[in-house]
Amino acid sequence: MRVLVSGGAGYIGSHTVLALVAAGHDVVVVDDFSNAKPTVVGRLEALTGRHIPVHAFDLTDIDKTEHLFATDTIDAVIHFAGYKAVGESVQKPLDYYQNNLGSTFSLVRAMQKHDVDKLVFSSSATVYGTDQAGATEDRPTFATNPYGWTKVMQEQILRDIAVADPEMRIALLRYFNPVGAHPSGTIGEDPSDVPNNLMPYIAQVAVGRREKLQVFGDDYDTPDGTGVRDYIHVEDLAAGHVAALEKLAVTDEPISTWNLGSGRGTSVLELLHAFEKAVGRELPYEVVGRRAGDVATSYADPSKANAELGWSTQKTVEEMCADTWRWQSQNPDGYPD
Ligand code: WQD
Repeated sequence: MRVLVSGGAGYIGSHTVLALVAAGHDVVVVDDFSNAKPTVVGRLEALTGRHIPVHAFDLTDIDKTEHLFATDTIDAVIHFAGYKAVGESVQKPLDYYQNNLGSTFSLVRAMQKHDVDKLVFSSSATVYGTDQAGATEDRPTFATNPYGWTKVMQEQILRDIAVADPEMRIALLRYFNPVGAHPSGTIGEDPSDVPNNLMPYIAQVAVGRREKLQVFGDDYDTPDGTGVRDYIHVEDLAAGHVAALEKLAVTDEPISTWNLGSGRGTSVLELLHAFEKAVGRELPYEVVGRRAGDVATSYADPSKANAELGWSTQKTVEEMCADTWRWQSQNPDGYPD
């Protein structure tokens, strides 16, 4: 299929572009580069040995979005594009609602106008609110921050669209904690500012860009007191997107929801120690107070995706750390401008 990947220059999007090409699909990327560097495209072309068509514009621009569908032959869309920083969303709610919902409105309208019926939507475990332990897809969704609400609302909007237009084939993919990098070490996670997330922060400590890791609380009701999360290698996550896309080509369901996670929890200190093994030395950290909004434990029940997509995670936490370290040590300052 010829697949439009929105946010395809981003962390998860770029890894999914590689997986799509490897599975024999054609790819077109649209990205506004608000949270990605153009350098990624050259890295993707070097890894695939193919030209990757890229359109650089804001998806909330409905005319540009419709023009893309009018001038290219798109069979399916994988929609990653969106703002995703929880803390920033609390400070700038209108930007988050306008951008995240507006880009989805624009995309789906263009899809309907051009009879494109397959959409894979990047959702998040954050829609489980504070009830993220052993989460199954039938749990009610709610959020504790504007970013999370944009995901809850987009899921609801897409469910309503599927009722109104049962010819649509939509997959809602709820990611847990994506980490890791392509084993080549040439693409990876490159936060534009101080990393909010644990793995890139540890990687920047290891490469000398940050002094030490701050562990946000060790008084949670977990085995070692630190937060437990379901880390999923971005390569496994990309494979899950290809599996979901190919499922849409054969299913009779207008809309399906799948958790993409390992089903296993790893604590902050366990991840830190696994990373130390990858680096071969101890890394400095300091336990500080809890971060507002954090839950103690979050991990998926991935059995629905395992059964219906024939997909499961393959990579270990050690591989997640080794691949992250290879990317970070080969690119100490991330992607060049
Ligand atoms: C993981 C654990 C922290 C940083 C977030 C978003 C979620 C999703 C995935 C988009 C927690 C601890 C972290 C640090 C720390 N994003 N931590 N020191 O919060 O589970 O999920 O990213 O969909 O929406 O909320 O991931 O990596 O920020 O935190 O101790 O410097 O690491 O307390 O226990 P989180 P995270």
